[in-house]
Amino acid sequence: MPLDRGGLLAFPFLSGLLVEFPAAQFGQDAGFFAGALETTQGRVEIFVFADTDARHSYLDARQNHPGRAGERARNCSDPPPENQRPAFMMVLGIETSCDETAVAVFDGERGLLANRVFSQVELHRAHGGVVPELASREHIERLLPMVGDALAEAGLSPQAIDGIAYTAGPGLIGALLVGACLGRALGYAWDVPVVGVHHLEGHLLAPALEPGAPDFPFVALQVSGGHTMLVEVAGVGRYRVLGETQDDAAGEAFDKTAKLLGLGYPGGPALARLAEQGRDGEFEFPRPMLDRPGLDFSFSGLKTAVVVAVRGRTLDEAARADVARGFENAMVETLVAKSLRALRQTGLGALVVAGGVGANLRLRGALAKAVAAAGSRVFFPRPEFCTDNAAMIALAGHHRLAAGEREGLAVRARARWPLEELHPPGEATH
Ligand code: KG4
Ligand code: ZN
Repeated sequence: MPLDRGGLLAFPFLSGLLVEFPAAQFGQDAGFFAGALETTQGRVEIFVFADTDARHSYLDARQNHPGRAGERARNCSDPPPENQRPAFMMVLGIETSCDETAVAVFDGERGLLANRVFSQVELHRAHGGVVPELASREHIERLLPMVGDALAEAGLSPQAIDGIAYTAGPGLIGALLVGACLGRALGYAWDVPVVGVHHLEGHLLAPALEPGAPDFPFVALQVSGGHTMLVEVAGVGRYRVLGETQDDAAGEAFDKTAKLLGLGYPGGPALARLAEQGRDGEFEFPRPMLDRPGLDFSFSGLKTAVVVAVRGRTLDEAARADVARGFENAMVETLVAKSLRALRQTGLGALVVAGGVGANLRLRGALAKAVAAAGSRVFFPRPEFCTDNAAMIALAGHHRLAAGEREGLAVRARARWPLEELHPPGEATH
């Protein structure tokens, strides 16, 4: 039951409670704090005092009550000796970084046992984009029942879970906090270790959920609504960002252009369908940053070029299709050229494509052709592992938990979190 008052928020979970409020207001709203405490009927076992930095991007527990439960939780956050670490663990994964609520169960021995995703796209459609506060509230309502459903799908009781992995960032801070609070609370209640996973690490490792995925090292093209980057993936936790977008993400550019053409949200698939009827060459848009060396992207110029092309004109259906085609051509050509450049620059022979834009058929076709012509290999994970899911979070968490990584009682959530801060499993320093 979330309590909401004046921008302050409390989550009583599983008869535990987390109250969040900015440090500056500590003591200024004692009534709120007392009211939240009252809901627990005095059965408070532990206080977690959280502190955020000014940009509200990091939340970390600072203090805990040294009671019986506190001792228990602290013990399970100590890494077990190396010879007692299970190679295979049953991990519950939780993903709430944006507008998908997702829960999965991954068994190190048998693989994926449950993978549930609830897409909030219908909720946000009316607003033409993701509304962060609505996303958070929907996560709160959906998440806990989905944990029960995922366990039932896997045929497991909570006692079978050895560890929990939740997405700790990057993403929408309120949305992240929902998954982080629940992950942390369940770990505490079930007395199992918990790790906060980097969302993009999940995407980069997701191909391994399928047979036929390339071994490390490979180049990953991550193209979604929130991210566009080329990454050299040398192993788990060994990532080098080769290039990334300087402004809009590729999916964002698809969505904005689609909006301009009067298509609904999310616009990517609708624009791709319209482009099928369009003619090549009717509209030529710039290929962003192709003329410059390096592997960074920039899509705002392309978007502006489309704005200029359609401004003040009434476009019939055929002309709109031609614009969509011209935009898609520019986008596909840019992504293909940079991907090939990344393979050449690293000398690696395999490319993995991840993220929602990876579902674009013309991008897939063009990449397959160009990469094969260059003597390399391209791998497209199936769509449910390309888009946001908790299977990839459980898998990444499994690597880290099995290597002995443990977190204390921290509820970790970071809106921004550079990928290159990550370390190989077991070498983390947080
Ligand atoms: O990875 P994703 O499902 O969610 C996140 O952004 O995290 O990616 C969604 C993005 C949206 O911008 C959507 O418009 C785009 O992927 N997208 C597509 C296609 N399908 C989804 N863009 C182009 N062509 C598609 N077929
Ligand atoms: Zn994602």
